[in-house]
Amino acid sequence: MKLQDRVAVVTGAGQGIGRAYAHRLVEEGARVVVAELNEAKGKAVAEECLAAGGQAMFVRTDVADEASCQEMVAATLRQFGRLDILVNNAAIFSTITMKPFWELGQAEWDELMAVNVRGVWLASKAVVPPMRQQRSGRIINISSAAIFMGRPHYLHYIASKGAVFAMTRAMARELGDFGITVNTITPGATYTEIPRETVTPEQRDAMLRAQCIKRPEEPRDLVGTVVFLASDDAAFVTGQTITVNGGLTFY
Ligand SMILES: NC(=O)c1ccc[n+]([C@@H]2O[C@H](COP(=O)([O-])OP(=O)(O)OC[C@H]3O[C@@H](n4cnc5c(N)ncnc54)[C@H](O)[C@@H]3O)[C@@H](O)[C@H]2O)c1
Repeated sequence: MKLQDRVAVVTGAGQGIGRAYAHRLVEEGARVVVAELNEAKGKAVAEECLAAGGQAMFVRTDVADEASCQEMVAATLRQFGRLDILVNNAAIFSTITMKPFWELGQAEWDELMAVNVRGVWLASKAVVPPMRQQRSGRIINISSAAIFMGRPHYLHYIASKGAVFAMTRAMARELGDFGITVNTITPGATYTEIPRETVTPEQRDAMLRAQCIKRPEEPRDLVGTVVFLASDDAAFVTGQTITVNGGLTFY
């Protein structure tokens, strides 16, 4: 119970890895806000957390929209009275169609950037006032180890996650004086309950062979790093990138 009574907001927690973060944060004693665009899925995850004996609530959130991010924070403070942890997990990811970058459309690019980059900024912007007031806070940005590999056929996504990596460092420098840490996790290809087309069977096999630990990555491989970064143990860790990918890359 490393996070007893802390309040954690997890964006995009309605499915996949975000859902696993929400479950594990509840197990560690945190009160969790499932901030998700998809109402049915977000509500279901909040109910799962409650059924597990935790405290949780769903707030319909579109991270690409500033008013929605502000309401996400206001609803959290109304319900739980504080806000300690933000996991910037929401992204356009599993719905991406892989294609050469010269076939990407401008609308596709802009839509993804609005969520994956602007969304990280807007959600972080919204949590700063209560975290500054508390003089403590943890922002955990979810990037991707794909940025170190230059994986092909989703250039808009790679660019967006490169921005998250860079924003982490700049945000950490601006927030250190207020007791707020900002770090990023770069996961490898992680297999969730959601089928995806972003990894072909050939790519999957090649990546498994190149890993030090030769098994597919699962959400449970990532949750401990989120708990560590959210905990008192990581009080002096900021601006850092932790790669969790079975040793596929060493950055
Ligand atoms: N699964 C992987 O292999 C992998 C690898 C590296 C990084 N990541 C990153 O980890 C995170 C989670 O990945 P995943 O596999 O669970 O993705 P996913 O696509 O399954 O889930 C993303 C969630 O974000 C929500 N979402 C989308 N737009 C939103 C918005 N505007 N506002 C709020 N919520 C929104 C979706 O409804 C969904 O619940 C993402 O940031 C992804 O880029 C995933």
